[in-house]
Amino acid sequence: MGSAVPSNTLTNKDLEKIANTSDEWIYARTGIRQRSICAKDEKTHAFELGAEASRRALDRAAITADEIDGIVCATFTPDFFFPATACKIQHLLGCTHAFGFDVSAACSGFLYGLTIADAMIRSGQCTTILVVGTEIISKTLDWTDRGTCILFGDGAGAAVLRASDNAQQGILSTYMQSEGAFADILYLPAWGDERFMKMNGGDVYKHAVRMMGDAALKCLDKAGFSIENIDLLIPHQANIRIIRAMAAHLNVSMEKIVCNVDRYANTGSASIPLALEDAWSDGRIKEGTIVVFTSLGGVFQASLLGLFFLLGGY
Ligand code: UT7
Repeated sequence: MGSAVPSNTLTNKDLEKIANTSDEWIYARTGIRQRSICAKDEKTHAFELGAEASRRALDRAAITADEIDGIVCATFTPDFFFPATACKIQHLLGCTHAFGFDVSAACSGFLYGLTIADAMIRSGQCTTILVVGTEIISKTLDWTDRGTCILFGDGAGAAVLRASDNAQQGILSTYMQSEGAFADILYLPAWGDERFMKMNGGDVYKHAVRMMGDAALKCLDKAGFSIENIDLLIPHQANIRIIRAMAAHLNVSMEKIVCNVDRYANTGSASIPLALEDAWSDGRIKEGTIVVFTSLGGVFQASLLGLFFLLGGY
C-alpha cells in the first residue's frame, strides 16, 4: 500500500470565506473537518499524485518497477481522455514492461480495479499488478455550489497485488453491481460549459446507505461468511452519517469501522486506499485480519462493490 495527498489543507473555516456555509453545518451534516486539495496555482496532475502513492507502495512491497506486469488506474478526474492515467504513471515509475489502462467507476473505481487485477492474476495472465486510485476532484467543483464543494478532497492510493500459493490469503470474494437508472442523481459532464459535478444529495444519501450495506452482505455471502466474522469494515468515505446509517443497517459496531472522512473528505477512488492506509498505520490491520470493503460510486451510474480480504504479510 501507498498513499499521497496534496500538502495544501482546506478547512471548513476556510470554506466559510468561499461559499455560503459554516464549519458547524458541514461537520454536523457530514463529519468533515478538512480536506487536502491542490492549491489553485499548483499544477499537480492526478497522474503525478497517483505516481507518488505508487512509489510508496512499490518501496513497501520491496519490488522494482520492472516487476510490474500491469497498472490499473481508477479515476474520474483524469488529466486526459487519453493517454490513460495509468500510462502516464507507468512512464513516471519506469515500469517499462507493464501495460496500463484506466477504470471509470467513480468512487467505486479502486474496488473495481482490485477485482480486475485479482481476476487477471488468478487466470495466470499476470503475476504482479499495481492498482491505483487517484483524484483531483477540486478541479471539477463549482465552488459557489455549497451542496457539493464542501464534500470532496484530492488524494491518491495504490496497492501492489501479487500471485500467491496461499489460498487462505488475499481477496476471498468480490461483488459488483451497477444501477444505470440513477445516472442523473450524481454526474460530471464530459462536454459543455458547465463541466462541474452535479448532485442530488438527498437521493445519493438514501441509496448509498442501502447499496453499500447490501453489497457488503452479498460479498460476504459469496464467500460463506457472515458479518459477525469480520474484524474490520472499510467503507467509501463519503459522509459520516451515511457510514453510521450503514453500520446500523448491518448491525456492525462503529468500533469495527474505519473512518477518516473528517481529515480527507470524499476523495473518490482514493478514499478506500486512504482509509486502508490509516487502518494499517494504526495497527488495526495485522496478518489474518478479515476486512470487508464496500463502496458506492455515482456519476454515470451508481456502482458498488464489497471486497473481502484476508490480509497477511504486512
Ligand atoms: O460518493 C457519494 C458522494 N455524495 C454524497 O456523499 C452526498 C450524500 N448526501 C449528503 O451527504 C447530504 O445530502 C448533504 C450533506 C449533501 C446535504 O445534507 P442534507 O441533510 O441532505 O441537507 P439538504 O440538502 O436537505 O439541505 C438542508 C438545508 C437547505 O436549506 P433550506 O432549504 O432548509 O433553507 C440547504 O440549502 O441546508 C442548506 N445547505 C447548506 N447550508 C449550509 C445545503 N448545503 C449547505 C452548506 N452549508 N454547505
